[in-house]
Amino acid sequence: MSRRKQIYEGKAKILYEGPEPGTLVQYFKDDATAFNAQKKAILDGKGVLNNRISEFVMTHLAEIGIPTHFIKRLNMREQLIKKVEIIPLEVICRNVAAGTMAKRLGIEEGEKLPRSVVEFCLKRDDLGDPLIAEEHIHAFGWASSSELDEMIAMTLRINDYLQGMFAGIGIKLIDFKIEFGRLPISNEDGVVGHQVVLADEISPDSCRLWDRETNKKLDKDRFRRDLGEVTEAYTEVATRLGIIKEQNQHNATILSVVSNDD
Ligand code: TYD
Repeated sequence: MSRRKQIYEGKAKILYEGPEPGTLVQYFKDDATAFNAQKKAILDGKGVLNNRISEFVMTHLAEIGIPTHFIKRLNMREQLIKKVEIIPLEVICRNVAAGTMAKRLGIEEGEKLPRSVVEFCLKRDDLGDPLIAEEHIHAFGWASSSELDEMIAMTLRINDYLQGMFAGIGIKLIDFKIEFGRLPISNEDGVVGHQVVLADEISPDSCRLWDRETNKKLDKDRFRRDLGEVTEAYTEVATRLGIIKEQNQHNATILSVVSNDD
């Protein structure tokens, strides 16, 4: 997609100028990074899988009334999205202790939390995305009180929906990270306000997904922790969601993505 003007390159995705004003094209790379990009690899087919899984999740969330930046998938690796101003927060929602929370609070990984917990990190790669309190968000003006209320409410609804969606395919949603953006609302006078919408992606790169029976990890922890078979696990998630048909031959699977492929 070198014809398009590149707007931004992140660790796993590239953003290009979109065909219409107010749109962007989000391209999913095969690059995987962890531990603040100290660990890197190329995982063949990861971008294709995340593009499909994120499309599936965003589309279903839109159906239950969650506003998102997603417009449509364009091809195997690209989706058309609405251009938003990203709110500089990573919103994490946890149902079961894992990762940094398990370490920080000395809770055994896998222990169910008394209730779902929403956490915030500041989106600052140079600082390693530090955990912050709501007080910091207010004090530094990273989001307004009403934006924060909307983000928390949406995060809890997304969590409820995704927990049910994954439970239906034998997967436990341990935790996930989402990002939000401000979408301009315009009328004939120009921009008159902003709406908070779900942005970025929701995929096994940004969720912890464990098999209900075996607790097998079906997410990026396979990469972080050198467990192997990373894209195979992502393929399993896509297969269980009904996005792709086959699971036995990984490469064939990526080529046999169900429906109208390009
Ligand atoms: P967390 O346990 O805080 O961090 P780590 O992944 O370093 O152990 O992660 C909680 C969830 O949020 C997990 O599913 C991974 C996801 N996440 C991201 O996708 N990106 C991030 O930058 C962070 C901090 C978390």
